[in-house]
Amino acid sequence: MSKQFDVIVIGGGPGGYIAAIRAAQLGFNVACVDEWKNARGGPALGGTCTNVGCIPSKALLQSSENFDQAGHHFADHGIEIKGLAMDVAKMLGRKDAVVKQNNDGILYLFKKNKVTFFHGRGTFVKASDAGYEINVAGSTPDTLVGKHIIVATGSNARALPGAPFDEEMILSNDGALRVGAVPQKLGLIGSGVIGLEMGSVWRRLGSEVTVLEALPTFLGAVDEQIAREAKKAFDKQGLKIELGVKVGEIKTGKKGVSVAWTNARGEAQLLEVDKLIVSIGRVPNTIGLGAEAVGLKLDERGAIVVDDDCKTSLPNVWAVGDVVRGPMLAHKAEEEGVAVAERIAGQHGHVNFNTVPWVIYTSPEIAWVGQTEQQLKSAGRAYKAGTFPFLANGRARALGDTTGMVKFLADAATDEILGVHIVGPQASELISEAVVAMEFRASSEDIARICHAHPSLSEATKEAALAVDKRTLNF
Ligand code: FAD
Ligand code: NAI
Repeated sequence: MSKQFDVIVIGGGPGGYIAAIRAAQLGFNVACVDEWKNARGGPALGGTCTNVGCIPSKALLQSSENFDQAGHHFADHGIEIKGLAMDVAKMLGRKDAVVKQNNDGILYLFKKNKVTFFHGRGTFVKASDAGYEINVAGSTPDTLVGKHIIVATGSNARALPGAPFDEEMILSNDGALRVGAVPQKLGLIGSGVIGLEMGSVWRRLGSEVTVLEALPTFLGAVDEQIAREAKKAFDKQGLKIELGVKVGEIKTGKKGVSVAWTNARGEAQLLEVDKLIVSIGRVPNTIGLGAEAVGLKLDERGAIVVDDDCKTSLPNVWAVGDVVRGPMLAHKAEEEGVAVAERIAGQHGHVNFNTVPWVIYTSPEIAWVGQTEQQLKSAGRAYKAGTFPFLANGRARALGDTTGMVKFLADAATDEILGVHIVGPQASELISEAVVAMEFRASSEDIARICHAHPSLSEATKEAALAVDKRTLNF
């Protein structure tokens, strides 16, 4: 006997579990099917983000940052530490505990919101008048029928051809978060978000880190001025980033991994490392979904084809998050999940892609929202720019972290904020003000006229807004 639901969500990552909760809040009878297993084979809700993405990476970034601070910066405050050491096993144990708190938190939220959870793989079987039949294979096997289906099956790490992940020597994000001892030499392919975050973790703990990046420019999607500033800081820290490279043969042996590569001048090179992290992007995941059984349309990358409202090629089947077009970010997945649940309820759910913030949690942090200067130039849009360095911010001096700046880009005629770019301390938190401002279509003068607490890093945001009109007060 099949179980009937108004809404079945396949995938319990940030896109799926949030969609399930919102749909339940709106009065629907909701099921969520997720197959992720923890080390004991039990459920581990939260998807990539909670298990091998956002949450564990930020836990390791925090631990390694604390170690770096204690080793290199506490002395400036008069704090002397003798015999400083890193217990990697304890750091990993703490990370696992943080992950578990989040897994359990989602189970609790499902109970609280009366979402029925099925642990296993959800596969489309067929469409009928009652809805779509979904087979659940796993620890709670079942047959479900849903009037509406929301697919939120996420993404997987992309491997380099000829160098599959073994998670011992050649690591995806999964293995990169489980390295049991600090590698003496660590290689990374791809200086994108994962490359920089994971490279930072292990460099802070003592690894000699080399990052090989195919593109000739560093962080091509980031505002050029901000990317230059970040690169200067990473160079100073000793993160070795090679741009414009061509990666050749990768071999694993007993002692480590060797990577043949060609530098930007066309010279053949060999990189020998203990571990290699490959972080060259991610691919949408529809493995085992049974898309073909119901004729769900995928594009050439394997992503589920959706329109602006996350509607797929099939009636009442929706898809959100990493498995569809757009940035692969947890908060984008969540926003789409909420919007779809509201659309199913006949409401007008909406996601503004122009105000989705990006954050790279390195030190300095990099965060931005809206358009970069190079995008405005190529669109021929007349704009004004204003920057303010953290060097001139009292709170940053007191913190002992004056790297970087805040940069505003505003329309030349209307002064509407078009983009805000930050490299520096707490950029991840500071960017929220810019997101709110852009969502309300504020002008740079609006931010410049708002009272900001003193001393705070947010004063750099106000000053950068003032700089658009060339009237900074503290620089
Ligand atoms: P996922 O989180 O991938 O969840 C999909 C879920 O569906 C998984 O649990 C999977 O097991 C399950 N599933 C798949 N197929 C089936 C099936 N047929 N049946 C049942 N279950 C199925 N984003 C940020 O915004 N901030 C960050 O700081 C950040 N850090 C990251 C760090 C790393 C190392 C990585 C790899 C990613 C990071 N991301 C970050 C990206 C973020 O993790 C993803 O954008 C986000 O998880 C996408 O959510 P989702 O719900 O679409 O998919
Ligand atoms: P990415 O797209 O950020 O970066 C991949 C990099 O690899 C690019 O710079 C690309 O030019 C390079 N590359 C591709 N092929 C290559 C090759 N053959 N040789 C050398 N370099 C090559 O992808 P990444 O870092 O794997 O992360 C995947 C996604 O996960 C991110 O795009 C982001 O959406 C998400 N993520 C978000 C985080 C955050 O929000 N803080 C943190 C980590 C991941």
